[in-house]
Amino acid sequence: MAKLRCPDTVNVLLLGTGGREHALAWKLKKSKRLGKLWVEPGANAGILELGQVCPEPLNDLFRMTRWCERENIALVVIGPEGPLAADYATKLEDYPKRVVFGPTKAAAQLEWDKAFAKQVMRAASVPTADSRVFHDVEQALAYVETRVDGCVVKATGLCAGKGVMVCRTVAEAQRAVEECLVKKSFGDEGKTILIEDLLEGPEVSVLALCDGSDFWILDAAQDHKRVGEGDTGPNTGGMGAFSPTPKATEELLRIVERDVLVPTIDALKRMDIPFRGVLYAGIMLTPAGPKVLEFNTRFGDPETQPILARLQGDLVELCWATATKQLSAVDLRFDSRAACCVMVCSKGYPGNYAKGVEIKGLEAARAVPRGQGEEIEIFHSGTARRNGSLVTAGGRVLGVTALASTGARAAELARNAAACIEFDGAFYRKDIGRQLA
Ligand code: AMP
Ligand code: GLY
Repeated sequence: MAKLRCPDTVNVLLLGTGGREHALAWKLKKSKRLGKLWVEPGANAGILELGQVCPEPLNDLFRMTRWCERENIALVVIGPEGPLAADYATKLEDYPKRVVFGPTKAAAQLEWDKAFAKQVMRAASVPTADSRVFHDVEQALAYVETRVDGCVVKATGLCAGKGVMVCRTVAEAQRAVEECLVKKSFGDEGKTILIEDLLEGPEVSVLALCDGSDFWILDAAQDHKRVGEGDTGPNTGGMGAFSPTPKATEELLRIVERDVLVPTIDALKRMDIPFRGVLYAGIMLTPAGPKVLEFNTRFGDPETQPILARLQGDLVELCWATATKQLSAVDLRFDSRAACCVMVCSKGYPGNYAKGVEIKGLEAARAVPRGQGEEIEIFHSGTARRNGSLVTAGGRVLGVTALASTGARAAELARNAAACIEFDGAFYRKDIGRQLA
């Protein structure tokens, strides 16, 4: 294996303010190469405990790049899709002095434009639901009338996991079309919609680190998108996740590699778009084989919490290798233990919810009885400090993540710890990981 070329000390700027970024910050802090960790203003209370706040506003590029130079920022890690779609990967890079972990806007189009993703998949024969694109409300309504077996209506832009409406009846599909094209509930992100076939089957999240040439598939995870137990109610950003998942067998991962990842990365390459960062394929295991539901171009949230809890190795090195085309010089290993994350949320999520509600019980959650080799990590998602107290600041508030020898035990431990978190209106799904042995 080639030797990784990476500075001994790397100052890192981490963009993003939520649970995924708290997990990234936590893992970056364990790196022997980390110099100073800088984080965004507005980061949650957990992230703020780990990093120093960058004093410049992200949208003032001139001041931002000057500041990066002054502070010798060598690596920028971009967590969320927003800054990727705004092309901060290109704007903040000053190769080779400063490299960015995260794809360019052109590559991130796989996520911020679902119609583009479909085009790429169609051109590369990647298995996915058949779909049509609409801008016009009359045409869309006429089309859904023919979809008596149900369909899925999707805003093509970025909607924080909320722009997908699974419709079992024509009436539901009509309402979904009107939501996007008449009420404009998703603004410009929903002015173009996809209407696609309704698929059935369990879902897995397959994430790969790609450096523009090589890629590493991470251990897969299973997310829980619906707000209610038994997968009921509206879609959310994700109510909990575990990794590994028995659904993602070696054989399945080889099929996803061969039929999804390789052809997608190659199709982008042919368009002169190298993909560098995390390519996340949301896969449904249908009776006709695995099909892509969506691509994300970043770590998933909450999948990142259980994945990083199990990832062995140095995250600064992994990010550096990804950003500098050196993935062949790093080794990727996972803890043999299983991890499960349960999100504790604010009442009302994914709709409206209160903020600023005092949170208690973190110490009790960390102290939940456990056996040898079992661990609990609490990642903040939507939290803030107000007069010294920890308060809620989002719909998803805390991600309680446990590690244990089996998935079932990790899930039990995560639930036990989540039960200790107290704030007015706190709720979590009690069925995350129940299906695990
Ligand atoms: P997406 O953001 O595209 O992954 O969609 C969010 C969730 O909606 C997925 O995790 C699925 O549960 C569901 N979904 C998306 N597309 C389809 C589809 N074609 N058929 C059935 N369910 C879907
Ligand atoms: N948990 C799904 C996502 O990150 O998009």
